[in-house]
Amino acid sequence: MTERLRVENLCKVFSKSPEPALRMLAAGAKKSEVLTKTGMVVGLNDVSLSVQSGAIYMVMGLSGSGKSTLARCINRLNEPSAGRILLDGQDIVAAGEAELRDIRRTRISMVFQHFALLPNRTVAENAEFGLKLQGVSPQVRRRRAEEVLSIVGLARWGNHYPHELSGGMRQRVGLARALATDADVLIMDEAFSALDPLIRTEMQDELLRLQRTLKKTILFITHDFQEALKLGTRIAIMADGELVREGTPQSIVLDPGSDYVAAFTREVDRSRLFDARSAMSPVQPVPLTAGLCLAETGDGGGLVLDDGGHVVGVLDAETLRGLREGKPYGDANFGTLRKDFVTVRECDSLLDAARAHRAGRPMAVVDEEGRLTGTLAGDRILAGIASAPPHPAGGLHA
Ligand SMILES: Nc1ncnc2c1ncn2[C@@H]1O[C@H](COP(=O)(O)OP(=O)(O)O)[C@@H](O)[C@H]1O
Ligand SMILES: [Mg+2]
Repeated sequence: MTERLRVENLCKVFSKSPEPALRMLAAGAKKSEVLTKTGMVVGLNDVSLSVQSGAIYMVMGLSGSGKSTLARCINRLNEPSAGRILLDGQDIVAAGEAELRDIRRTRISMVFQHFALLPNRTVAENAEFGLKLQGVSPQVRRRRAEEVLSIVGLARWGNHYPHELSGGMRQRVGLARALATDADVLIMDEAFSALDPLIRTEMQDELLRLQRTLKKTILFITHDFQEALKLGTRIAIMADGELVREGTPQSIVLDPGSDYVAAFTREVDRSRLFDARSAMSPVQPVPLTAGLCLAETGDGGGLVLDDGGHVVGVLDAETLRGLREGKPYGDANFGTLRKDFVTVRECDSLLDAARAHRAGRPMAVVDEEGRLTGTLAGDRILAGIASAPPHPAGGLHA
């Protein structure tokens, strides 16, 4: 993984002469204090982050926390007051006008919440708009528009007008336009926030699907924690212009680090993040007799497997003890194998595992081929679902 985008100590004060505010921030003042003493609005206070190539990097926070300001600073729609923004090592903040134009046209694309489509241009014309600005010839950009429209599932809509499309379709046009320029970095500012929930989920799935082949570097801004968890490779959480927590979705849910972040995590169904595999005890089957193996379940019993690794039955503790004492495993034993085990797949959520759990019945965790890979005890399921482990006191940054 290589770093594509790096933000270093970025500050944004909305003022023509931000120096007094910047001095206060450097001395540790917060946004509210700066506002009271200088009347200046702080958009960003000392934000640093690093985005790896191919990542979907989520910036999440309440309204007014500075997310859009960050997005707009990155392509200099907002002029940063202090700090550096490095795109492949090149400082965007120091870029001259021509250089900046070039960056905006070819290296960073933006997708906005409110589609920003030109109403009196066709869908194809909208999709190719960025290329037109680049001076690409009509034939080439039309071909490219057709390409990207088909990527986002709008192959036959090129000659229609935006008002003929649903909200979800219009957002796809916005996405197509961003993809058309071939920019490596996409900034999506609340791109799905205006869509109704069903369409929104669809667009999220679509983005994940597209990203598997496109492998863009995406900075995705949202106020929706669920969306951040679903899409994010990493998540940065902002509050009052500051980055208060950064990490993988799992690490943030397990260890929010502050009440502010914990409040978001409480809202999510924790178990959705963790699958049966994450809590299971792996098994190590040993040969039992010709064609059969035994996997102990850790509670005194065992699961008997055929030579394909599939569970054929449960061995009770007594029989198992007998085997340990040297009694041979014979057909008679096989005939008495119990079948009362429960099976879940590795990828099943812990919540589903909890629902499947039955007292006294071993839980077999199987892979996609149905082969046993682990067992899952009730207390492990609950521990996985239950509240986060205590985290070390102190620092908010990961
Ligand atoms: N052009 C502007 N002039 C003055 N203040 C602004 C401007 N744009 C944003 N702000 C302020 O900066 C802060 C962050 O805003 P914004 O980045 O839009 O938040 P978010 O996108 O997280 O909702 C807010 O306090 C907002 O009022
Ligand atoms: Mg915003």
